[in-house]
Amino acid sequence: MASATAISPSSAVAPTASPAAALKLANVLYEKKGPIAYVTVNRPKVLNALNTPTWADMRAAFEDARSDAVVRGVILTGAGNKAFIAGADIGELSKLSPLEGREHARRGQAIVGKLETLGKPVIAAVNGYALGGGCELALACTIRIASENARFGQPEVKLGIIPGYGGSQRLARVVGEGRAMQLCLTAEQIDAAEAHRIGLVNKVVPVGQALAAAREMAKAINANGPVACRYVLEAVRRGLEMPLSEGLVFEATLFGLCAATSDMKEGMTAFLEKRPARFTGR
Ligand code: COA
Repeated sequence: MASATAISPSSAVAPTASPAAALKLANVLYEKKGPIAYVTVNRPKVLNALNTPTWADMRAAFEDARSDAVVRGVILTGAGNKAFIAGADIGELSKLSPLEGREHARRGQAIVGKLETLGKPVIAAVNGYALGGGCELALACTIRIASENARFGQPEVKLGIIPGYGGSQRLARVVGEGRAMQLCLTAEQIDAAEAHRIGLVNKVVPVGQALAAAREMAKAINANGPVACRYVLEAVRRGLEMPLSEGLVFEATLFGLCAATSDMKEGMTAFLEKRPARFTGR
């Protein structure tokens, strides 16, 4: 646990007046190291399964990461070397009535939505099982990096339910309808290589290196124009929900807005002066 602000069960008092100082999280480790916030689901005994307190912790962490201007990107991972997140806590799910089930799914979807619309890149460092809700959270991230031991799947139908945190919707958008149908209907698990082949993950790295690879990617993103990166996030995400013709208009508008930024002036001046750019995010 390093420099700036570190919030965990073992270090609840942060050294700065950052908003994170108010967070006391039981099931999630939340650390800020410079411009990167790390959200680590921390229930390794149950393979980081998501129960209600864990969802609440994630919401608090995502809200802090969104509102802290110093944070430029988030890395989501799971504690231990066996699992990213092995899905919703089945003990908890087993007790839900139909009405509670619907509310449960809507609450989960809202928190996954917060992650997806953070306005900052979120990289999933998938270090083992990413099943059910784990796969769904990874799908809502901007980029997914998997270690070679990662396994992905939507096993809900084995339990007599369907994905409830967006899996039936986002999986098809990421890997296409046929593959999403196959994964959700068969409940099969696929390994990192297959996930890479079908476009579910961006990159596969040796075991133990997913976090480092995610950090490298976050650093590479952070070296670029902050406003431009924010607009890329918006253009791609929102564009996917629009007809192409509308998406192109939206893209052109954001492109035009870039011309109003000092980041654009600095980026182009730096290129012409053959030096690295010093962006200010304005
Ligand atoms: N909810 C609650 N507990 C879970 C869990 C989940 N989603 N996934 C794992 N656990 C618990 C297990 O019950 C076990 O607890 P125990 O030690 O008290 O018995 C512990 O985590 C370790 O899991 P275990 O099953 O012993 O590990 P494994 O290596 O044999 O298998 C998995 C790993 C991931 C294949 C298996 O745990 C599994 O299928 N989990 C459920 C995945 C799932 O269906 N997720 C979607 C839920 S909607």
